[in-house]
Amino acid sequence: MATAGSAVGLGNIWKFPYIAGENGGGVFLIIYLVCVLLFGMPLLITEFYIGKHSGKSAFGAFRALRNNGRWQWLSWLCMLTSLIIMGFYFVVTGWCFHYVVAALTHTFKGMDSASLTSHFEAFSSNGLLELLYGFIAVLITACILWFDVNKGIERLSKILMPLLLIMMILMAGRVLMLDGSSTGMRFFFQADFSKLTPQVVLSALGQCFFSLSIGMGVLITYGAYMPKNQNLTTTSLQVAVIDTIVAVFAGMIIFPAVFAFGFNPAEGPELVFVVLPAIFEKMSFAWFSSILFFLLLCVAALTSTISLMEVVVAFLTEATAHTKHPLDRHKSVIVVFVLVMAMISACIFLPYVFKESDVVSSCILMPLNALAMVLFVGWFLPKKDIQHELCKHNDWRRYLPMVYIQIVRYLVPLAIIAIFLNGIGIW
Ligand code: TRP
Repeated sequence: MATAGSAVGLGNIWKFPYIAGENGGGVFLIIYLVCVLLFGMPLLITEFYIGKHSGKSAFGAFRALRNNGRWQWLSWLCMLTSLIIMGFYFVVTGWCFHYVVAALTHTFKGMDSASLTSHFEAFSSNGLLELLYGFIAVLITACILWFDVNKGIERLSKILMPLLLIMMILMAGRVLMLDGSSTGMRFFFQADFSKLTPQVVLSALGQCFFSLSIGMGVLITYGAYMPKNQNLTTTSLQVAVIDTIVAVFAGMIIFPAVFAFGFNPAEGPELVFVVLPAIFEKMSFAWFSSILFFLLLCVAALTSTISLMEVVVAFLTEATAHTKHPLDRHKSVIVVFVLVMAMISACIFLPYVFKESDVVSSCILMPLNALAMVLFVGWFLPKKDIQHELCKHNDWRRYLPMVYIQIVRYLVPLAIIAIFLNGIGIW
């Protein structure tokens, strides 16, 4: 459940609908689901396995399993990826905060789609205001890590996240009753294969990694905390299913509304933020439900920022432990705080940095990290250990390790390379 909580976040509710909208809707959904099955599942198992088998976080796991430092670069690359993600993730978390305040002050009352779009444009062109909200998000996250109250937040989110899902179900129901919503449902559920391009496939792959938090070493750490008798296959399946359900629900809310209110599905990163207030206007208890929803969205975003920042803080502490200048937890929090503030300033004041860090992390770094991890497990670790981990009982699952090993040795690496080269236009 903790892993599912880390996986579900802005990736599902903000990023999934906007990427799907930019990449043709239905055809993207199908490719995305295939990616989750073909790459998401094996990679969840792979990262969990690295953590569970070594009992170490991303920093020490590769060294512990191979007994040499030759794979250490991969943990650094994972950290670099987390840092890049934090830049734009905190900016969008700041947007969520702004929308809570705007909902509280009745800003969206009576606004049509054009004025909702211009509200967002006015907000996002006010760099200092955006920076202020981003700063608040970073500060809250850093304080939670500083005072070590993550456990309390985790307990809180166990109540709040199901509430978010209930709200999403209600909203999906309301949106379906809007005039013109069926066009949106067709856009999202009917695949038009003429829109299928290498770019769509690479975007789906990147989105699958981003949404499942794959390729950042985060899951290695979660794996290290798993009890010995935890079944990796079942756990991975559960995480993948929960994460995908939330993303599909988000699509079922956004796309019918996009067409009913006359927005553009390929609007870009602001899509969800301009469409959601329009939906609340049509709901009963509009004021209350919009505040509640944006608050819950902030909690979903914060649980992800906490886990992202925690991993980098822990990494810094471990990496500097035996050097001349060891950083304790508090010092690491300060260092990461400064780095993240620099990242979000760059994302806000240089718009291409925002877009590029999103694309570079999802479509380049995560696939490369994932590729390295499957090669590591498939070719460099003893097969019998994997066999032992994946199949402790003598039931139908005894075929699973063999299938899994073939998949991580050949299918996943070759497919990632092909999709990657295709997507960036080299092949
Ligand atoms: N999967 C998260 C989401 O969908 C985002 C994310 C990516 C993340 N990497 C992470 C969250 C690492 C926590 C830790 O929003």
